[in-house]
Amino acid sequence: MKILDGRLLLEKVKKEIALETLKLIKKNNRPPHLTAILIGNNPASETYVSAKVKSCKDIGFDSTVIRYPKEIKQGELVSKILDLNSDASVDGIIVQLPLPSHIDESLITHSICHTKDVDGFHPINIGRMVLGLPCYLPATPFGIISLLSEYKINTEGKKCLVIGRSNIVGTPISILMSRNKTIGNATVTLAHSKTKNINLLTKDADIIILALGFPHYLKSNMIKKNVIIIDVGIHRIKSNKTKSGYKLVGDADFEDVKGNSSYITPVPGGVGPMTIASLLKNTLYSAKKVIYSHLNE
Ligand code: GUN
Repeated sequence: MKILDGRLLLEKVKKEIALETLKLIKKNNRPPHLTAILIGNNPASETYVSAKVKSCKDIGFDSTVIRYPKEIKQGELVSKILDLNSDASVDGIIVQLPLPSHIDESLITHSICHTKDVDGFHPINIGRMVLGLPCYLPATPFGIISLLSEYKINTEGKKCLVIGRSNIVGTPISILMSRNKTIGNATVTLAHSKTKNINLLTKDADIIILALGFPHYLKSNMIKKNVIIIDVGIHRIKSNKTKSGYKLVGDADFEDVKGNSSYITPVPGGVGPMTIASLLKNTLYSAKKVIYSHLNE
């Protein structure tokens, strides 16, 4: 069993981007600038946004966090996004999800101009991804393919099972894994809450991408030997083995499945850091204005 180490790869990506940032500044450009909008006080969202801001600082990017209380009106949020869309000092805009229930998530994420949509959620970017055109790839799926690429994992002709069909992970990663690219060319099955006999699918899969949001869902008796496990889930569960009384776990029961896997992403430290790596790459592309003239890796 080998660990797919997202933390290590994030550090490598950060070093590369820090050098690119220095080059930009030497040519009298300002540093790339990411603006994050954070609504309410969801502790997980606070943690994710802090991690994104810290990574920006580490590599010389500018970053701004705009905070709103959870009662903010949808119209006020849209009008702030429209201001940022036309603000030439901002390269990338993200709105941290989830949003309070009175706010329409699609309306908000689609208000971000596709040329600053460094999360890759906008229909123009998703549509261009489906057609194999230059785009901002959605951050988490982009992170997963970067991790598979770094570890030179052969995905061609493999049976890849994606569990979960969210717009931001399950659906886009199923498309990326099936496209005609080095990381791709897999035969993809997308399973979801209405899928029947899922154990037959998990037992048959060479690669399992878990994005269903259910702690410790995948167990060793559901998989075959040497499967590759990519775990997108992250959950805080009670534990009597840690000082805090909690621990972070994924959608796979790591201790149970690791013996049967050839490669596995840990939680934390697997896919999570890769989402940040993708966000930094997309923000750099935006600052360099190259994205719609270059194909993604
Ligand atoms: N919430 C969970 N994942 C993400 C992500 O990749 N981007 C944003 N903006 N919010 C999220």
